[in-house]
Amino acid sequence: MPEKSFADALNEQIANEFAASQQYVGVAVYYDAETLPRLAAFFYRQAMEEREHAMMMVQYLLDVGEDIHIPDIKAQETSFSDGVAPVKAALHQEKRVSDEIFALFELAREVKDYRAEQFLQWFVKEQVEEVALMSDLLNVVERSKDNLLLVEDYIARESLGEEGSDPTAPPAAGMAG
Ligand SMILES: [Fe+2]
Ligand SMILES: [Fe+2]
Repeated sequence: MPEKSFADALNEQIANEFAASQQYVGVAVYYDAETLPRLAAFFYRQAMEEREHAMMMVQYLLDVGEDIHIPDIKAQETSFSDGVAPVKAALHQEKRVSDEIFALFELAREVKDYRAEQFLQWFVKEQVEEVALMSDLLNVVERSKDNLLLVEDYIARESLGEEGSDPTAPPAAGMAG
């Protein structure tokens, strides 16, 4: 048997998702201070999404009757060497979260927790999208690193990261519907 229960592992992931949310607030604040409002808005939105991921996991644990731990808030980075660094860090973060989700998936299989496996399916798909989104943004930011106003135009023109509601998304605690 694995040394960790699935509920414990998911509780750790709740902490990771909240940390990701806080880190995106830190990135958004950095761009906001640099007067790059579209980049700021993009990351404020990402921060909300990460919080929602955490709350989906909270709702799942509520539904299956497991204990829930709401983690402490750790300080996150708000100063960066240049305008490219935050997006690089964001892509790195999304890749790490993908690995975390895969590890959870593996654990669910190992302990034959079919509810957990089904719940995680959506997150596997979500991580494909998030890594692709951050890779796209990194391409654009690297190409325009001497004039980030071009990135601002790109985000506005392409409505980058503004997806509609996803009917297949798991319910999030505290959000009706
Ligand atoms: Fe997430
Ligand atoms: Fe994410």
